[in-house]
Parts: sequence; structure tokens; C-alpha cells
Amino acid sequence: MKRSTWSMSFWEHDGPEGLAPADQVLLAEARDAAGRAYAPYSRFHVGAALRLADGQVVTGNNQENASFPAGICAERTALHAAMSARPEGLVETIAVVVPDAAGDRPVSPCGICRQALLEQEHRQGKPLRVLLGTNSGQVLELASARALLPLSFDASFLKP
Ligand code: THU
Repeated sequence: MKRSTWSMSFWEHDGPEGLAPADQVLLAEARDAAGRAYAPYSRFHVGAALRLADGQVVTGNNQENASFPAGICAERTALHAAMSARPEGLVETIAVVVPDAAGDRPVSPCGICRQALLEQEHRQGKPLRVLLGTNSGQVLELASARALLPLSFDASFLKP
């Protein structure tokens, strides 16, 4: 028997100042997008904004449904909108913000969104950065979606 360890690292920025202007714009776009969320059931408004390699920004927010499981998270709304319009698109960075979150911890993507972000990373063959914003201004920066999902399922398990 051997013990294996998974480690991941990320950066904690005290405020957005340390980030590139384009990243600050992305966080602001994610915050705006949260304001357009359709979340009458949870009243938890999530915004996401992603930037493609050519600079195009695509936003998304959570879209809920009276049949709760039919709803979709902000991250996947943005990701699927981007990739349905730009199948060859390369997602450089996605920012996620919950302006009315309780407390000041950054809200991080749910398991299904982690899986979707990782699929995109495999699809594009390049890392997909993740920025998690807070209301105090603190931002967590992950260099790759891979850091979000250890022992993940991917296409390599499927029969050829
Ligand atoms: N939600 C997101 O949009 N993204 C996340 O990362 C976490 C959860 C949404 C789903 C649901 O509409 C609401 O937040 C409460 O779970």
C-alpha cells in the first residue's frame, strides 16, 4: 500500500489591484451578470464572466426552475453560451462572483461546474484560469481548473 497525495495551490489577492486590468473587468462583468440572474427560489444570485483568447467576454448567471434540478449554474451558462457560439474558442479565464453572499468567503464552483470547466480545459488543451471574487475585494486565483477536481472522471475512461 502506498499513500498518495493531491496538492493544489492558488493565489490569494487582498484586492483586485494586483490583478491585470482585463481581470478586473472580468470580475466587474461577473458582478453585473449576477444582477441579471433568475434565482427566485434560492435568491442566491451568481454571476460568471469568461474571457476568450481573443479578448471577447461572455457572461452568464444562474437560471433556476420551479423543477429545481432543471436549473443551471452561472458558470455553465457562460461556458455553454461561449462554446455554442465559438466552438473553437479558447477560454483563458473565468471569474465568478456572488455579490450578496453571506460572509466573505469566495463562493467556489459546484461539482458539476468543476467537471464542465475541466472538460473545457481538456477540449482546448490549455489551462483555464479561475478567479473567485468576494465582496471585500479579496480574489482567489487558480491557474487551472484541474486544481478544482482531484481524481476526476474524463474521456480516458470511456471505451474507444
Ligand atoms: N450556483 C451557481 O450558479 N454557481 C455555483 O457555483 C454555486 C451554485 C447556483 C445554483 C442555484 O441556482 C443557486 O446558486 C443556489 O445553489
